[in-house]
Order: sequence, then C-alpha cells, then structure tokens
Amino acid sequence: MKLLDKRFTTLIAAESIQTRIQTLAKTINTDYKGKNPLFLTILNGAFPFLADLAKYVDLPCEFEFVKISSYKGETQAKTLPFMMLGIEQALIQDRDIIVVEDIIDTGKTIEMVMHYLEAKKPRSLKLAALLHKSSIAPNVKIDYLGFEVGDEFLVGYGLDYGGLGRNLQDVYKLAPETEQ
Ligand code: IMP
Ligand code: MG
Repeated sequence: MKLLDKRFTTLIAAESIQTRIQTLAKTINTDYKGKNPLFLTILNGAFPFLADLAKYVDLPCEFEFVKISSYKGETQAKTLPFMMLGIEQALIQDRDIIVVEDIIDTGKTIEMVMHYLEAKKPRSLKLAALLHKSSIAPNVKIDYLGFEVGDEFLVGYGLDYGGLGRNLQDVYKLAPETEQ
C-alpha cells in the first residue's frame, strides 16, 4: 500500500481490530452498568475507533469531541503547551468520562489531556486507546487498550501520513527502507 512517497505493509488486519473492539465494548458495558458515561473523543485520529466502539456499547451514553493543538517546538511558551477546543467544566463535572484516543506514543499528549480533565472534576476518568507504543510510554495507564505495538510509524484506521490514510480499515506499518 502506498501513501504519497512511502510504502506500508499491513500490521493489524481489519477483522482483528473489529474483534478486539467488540471485546473492549463488552468490558465497558460491564464496568459502566447502570451509569451514563460520556465518551470524549480526541480528533482527528480517534474517529474510526470511536465509531466502531460505539456500535457495541449497550449503555445510555453521550458523545463529545475535542481537538487538540500541540505546541511541541521549544520556542513556544511553556505556559501554553496545548489548547483544547470545545470543553466546558459543566460538561465534565460529576460525569463518568471515557477519553477515546487513537494511539499513545510518548504519552505527553494524553498526560496533558487527563490532567486538564481531572481539574474539571469528573466523577470518574478513564482512557480507551486503540494502540500503545509500549516501549516509549510504559507508564501511561490505559484502562481499555486495543493493541500494544512497537516503535514504528503506523497509518490507517484513523492514523495519517501527511493527512492521508485515516480511512483505511487495516493498520499499516512503514515498509523497510529496501522495500520503499
Ligand atoms: P504522544 O504525545 O507522543 O503520545 O502523541 C500521540 C499522538 O501522535 C497521537 O494522537 C497521534 O495523533 C500521533 N501519532 C503517534 N504515533 C503515530 C504514528 O505512528 N502514526 C501516526 N500518528 C501518530
Ligand atoms: Mg491523535
């Protein structure tokens, strides 16, 4: 499979992703029985994961979406490491929040998000992530995890290369140099 100038090979097939997501949804259904959780999805990458997960969630639940801008350059002021659009305290306070993210890499993004949400006083706050690059962020607590992956560049199922590939049904990894 080719996107722009790079070749990719399948890492996780669509069927495996779907099976795993059904299992995660079952666990969520059990854990949140009698509750009314709010799924807070981080755009853009987590949209396919959320869409499929939601199909198997059998609870009265609500959905909100947030977009994050990371300021990773060293020249940026440290007082404004990120910006979260579209979140008010009233939405979070006293709610059971499940944050939905595509992939945890260094863990910096999600750490900031969880910290930010914690300050808005949710009743509970958990994290669902499809993928985790475990060798890089071993300390991030993921309550509902799809797959552990290696330290490789991935695309597909929400993940992009140069904005492309988010609509693919499988997750792909970058092909070796010799196959590019
Ligand atoms: P972190 O702060 O390093 O954990 O950044 C995580 C974010 O980086 C994810 O939400 C993705 O948007 C992006 N990301 C991390 N790894 C990959 C990858 O392999 N392919 C595409 N995007 C990635
Ligand atoms: Mg993301």
